[in-house]
Amino acid sequence: MPQHVVVIGAGVIGLSSAICLQEAGYSVTIVARDFPTPFEIVDPQTQINYTSPWGGAHNRWVPPHPVPGPERDQALREHALSLSTFKRMEALAAAQPAAGITFMPGIEYLESPGPEYVALTEVAAAELGMPGFRILRADEFPDARVAWGCEYRTWCVNPMVYCCFLLRQFVLRGGRIFKRELRCPDEVFALHSDLGTVNAAVNASGNGFGDKNMSITRGQTCIVTNPCDATVTRQNADGSWTFCVPRGFQGGTVIGGTKEPDNWDPEPSVDVRKTLLRRFAATYPRILDSSGKLQFVRDIVGRRPTRRGGLRLETERAVGGNVVVHAYGLGGRGYELSWGVAEEVVRLVRSELEGRASKL
Ligand SMILES: Cc1cc2nc3c(=O)[nH]c(=O)nc-3n(C[C@H](O)[C@H](O)[C@H](O)COP(=O)(O)OP(=O)(O)OC[C@H]3O[C@@H](n4cnc5c(N)ncnc54)[C@H](O)[C@@H]3O)c2cc1C
Ligand SMILES: *[C@@H]1O[C@H](CO)[C@@H](O)[C@H](O)[C@H]1NC(C)=O
Ligand SMILES: *[C@@H]1O[C@H](CO)[C@@H](O)[C@H](O)[C@H]1NC(C)=O
Ligand SMILES: *[C@@H]1O[C@H](CO)[C@@H](O)[C@H](O)[C@H]1NC(C)=O
Repeated sequence: MPQHVVVIGAGVIGLSSAICLQEAGYSVTIVARDFPTPFEIVDPQTQINYTSPWGGAHNRWVPPHPVPGPERDQALREHALSLSTFKRMEALAAAQPAAGITFMPGIEYLESPGPEYVALTEVAAAELGMPGFRILRADEFPDARVAWGCEYRTWCVNPMVYCCFLLRQFVLRGGRIFKRELRCPDEVFALHSDLGTVNAAVNASGNGFGDKNMSITRGQTCIVTNPCDATVTRQNADGSWTFCVPRGFQGGTVIGGTKEPDNWDPEPSVDVRKTLLRRFAATYPRILDSSGKLQFVRDIVGRRPTRRGGLRLETERAVGGNVVVHAYGLGGRGYELSWGVAEEVVRLVRSELEGRASKL
């Protein structure tokens, strides 16, 4: 009989991990409070802590910091995860046109580029595996405040089209789902009557349970009906961001956005929305419709599950011998790193369960 793994969480991390575990031959159950649904019915108040519906979501290549040290190590680790994710997104988009994935150019304009950008040549970017990377000429910048720019090939997903697709795949392959809010993570090992024997649990709960290093980064964005031919990101000199992420699949385009550490305000600000729209229209006027406008649909407020020290991707053997693989704290990069994280989850589960089987 295959070993049974329970995944806590049905955000992009729990779903991707669950599918990779199935591919590795495990029997998998997902236990979660929130499951993917059409975006139109996700509740902005009661489901604000379920981050996956509120993401963009695009892949932005992040070059590693040039100076050796923990920052560079972390960036290289995340870059490797984003490359694994990119490969899988490419294969999925080709095989499953309805998965919610769209490939398009990614454009970046930076007003105050850090050393990792200044050092980035087209040769270095090719070595890092960033496809179609090209440094923009100054005459391609939208205005004189931009100091550095680039273009590359990347992907965007429509988050709930994509997550509903993953959930369907999981169930079609025999996965079980269990809609339940856990008050304490060890509950998974105590739910025998519902779940049977649990050989390992994966903690893909987004912000974990009581990890003191977890916080949130609030993001306010909004949706417009205007389609866009690229995903565009601008870093402003004051540290703020102006970006768009086309969702595809008739989902409009996300215009953003803020990054506000520890701000728990669930209400969108109308002034912030007006600023986001005005700044994006000035940066990328190609998005405007024939009347020169952006057609606003709705505001979004989300909470990126941010962890001091970066994402947690490791095994913990709790008292009593229960095996838990943690996969949370993805911050603003959950989609970008999802398949890389899921593949690592499988390696961690496998090494723990095989190691244990050989000791019996
Ligand atoms: C405005 C905004 C823009 C973003 N843009 C991008 C982007 O462009 N690219 C990108 O890669 N990322 C982006 N992100 C980040 C991305 O959305 C997150 O990193 C990702 O959604 C996190 O996924 P997750 O599966 O870890 O967590 P979640 O989606 O929060 O899922 C957590 C799961 O755990 C369950 N859970 C939690 N606690 C319990 C409990 N006690 N009992 C039972 N179940 C529980 C929840 O119900 C849910 O199913 C953005 C985020 C925001 C807010
Ligand atoms: C979201 O999470 C925070 C922190 O854990 C909690 O205080 C709050 O009640 C949650 N909100 C909802 C709507 O569940
Ligand atoms: C999930 O992570 C928290 C830390 O945030 C930890 O206390 C808990 O043990 C983990 N989950 C499981 C299933 O144990
Ligand atoms: C929190 O961060 C500190 C310092 O970065 C680290 O020593 C500690 O182990 C972390 N705690 C958890 C639960 O990961």
